[in-house]
This record gives sequence, structure tokens and C-alpha cells, in this order.
Amino acid sequence: MGCAISGLAAKAEFGDRTTEESGAGAAYPSEDQIQMIKESWKVIQDDIAKVGIIMFVRLFETHPECKDVFFLFRDVEDLERLRTSRELRAHGLRVMSLIEKSVARLDQLERLEALALELGKSHYHYNAPPKYYSTMFQLVTSLMKHGYEEESNRQSHLALSPKGRPDKKNTAL
Ligand code: HEM
Repeated sequence: MGCAISGLAAKAEFGDRTTEESGAGAAYPSEDQIQMIKESWKVIQDDIAKVGIIMFVRLFETHPECKDVFFLFRDVEDLERLRTSRELRAHGLRVMSLIEKSVARLDQLERLEALALELGKSHYHYNAPPKYYSTMFQLVTSLMKHGYEEESNRQSHLALSPKGRPDKKNTAL
């Protein structure tokens, strides 16, 4: 099973040191990479509840079979209805908070590995196999890229306007 670290960045992009020997199959990020991940996480940090919903609705659109393992939503046919579901919001928030915790633990890799291993075990019982995990992270990173581009466009636009003052909050999502 891939751990949270291997999902956050391709293994090849990390340094030479890996936990391959210990059987975990994850790679150690460098200090710079940890900083980059922490910085880019800030792009969606304020909107994690929204991102959680978007991420799951997209997952169900692209891989409808994933919905079947969720007792709470598996009978909801209309994905648009799911966007306003309290249960999906709560669930998305749990998942995103877990990713947030993983980002915060990037410099305490042993704790991060323990967290990710436990999560893998619980997902065995949820009947949620590893083949979908990287799909989920791709969805988060693609949303982050959109957010980054929209914010970058917004900031360039503000810089052109005489009254424009950069606003810290990302309104892209
Ligand atoms: C890599 C991305 C994922 C992360 C970080 C993640 C994280 C979590 C977390 C934190 C929970 C709360 C319970 C617990 O801690 O065990 C959870 C529950 C669950 N996850 Fe995931 N998950 C991921 C991917 C998936 C995928 C792809 C599926 C479906 C194919 C899935 C299905 C479930 C189910 C069915 C539950 C229990 C739902 C419930 O209690 O209502 N997860 N997940």
C-alpha cells in the first residue's frame, strides 16, 4: 500500500533515501520538498470542507463504483444532491483533515507512517482498495493547480488596478 507521502509526490521526485528497505515503500522528502508541500497546502487550507466535497463528487463521477462502499451515500443517484449533503461534507472534512495532519507530520515521518498504515488497515475494512488512493490525490493536486492559477491571475489583475490590494484569502474555490 502506498503511504500518504508517496501519494503527495512521485517517488522519483524525492531524494535517494527511501524506506524501501523497511518494506514501507515510501520515500523521504527533502527539507525543500517538505517546505514546498507545506506552502502549496496553504492554497486550499481555508477551503478544505469545499475541496473535500468537490474531490468526492469527482471521484464518484469518474469511478462510480467507489460510491458503493459508502453506506451513507450509495443510494443517492443524483451527484448534484450530494454536493449539499451534510454527510458528504462531514466525510470529506475527515479525509481532508487527515491529509492536513499528514502534511503537518512531514517532518515527523515515523508518526506519519504510523498514521498512514493505520488508515490503510481501516480502509481494508471499508472495502476501499489502494488503486483509488492516488486518484484522490490527483484530484486534490489538480484542484490546487486550478486554485494556484486562478489566484495568480487574480493577483496580476489586482496589480494592474490602481486601487488593487492583494487579499490573503483565496476565493478561487
Ligand atoms: C487517499 C485518500 C484517502 C484518505 C486520506 C482517506 C481518509 C479517510 C478517513 C480519515 C476516514 C475516517 C475514518 C478513519 O480514520 O478510518 C475515512 C473513512 C472512509 N473512507 Fe477513506 N480516505 C481515502 C480514500 C478513500 C477511497 C478512495 C475510498 C473509496 C473507494 C474511501 C472510503 C472510505 C470509507 C467507506 C470510509 C468510512 C466511511 C464512514 O465512516 O462513513 N476512502 N477515510
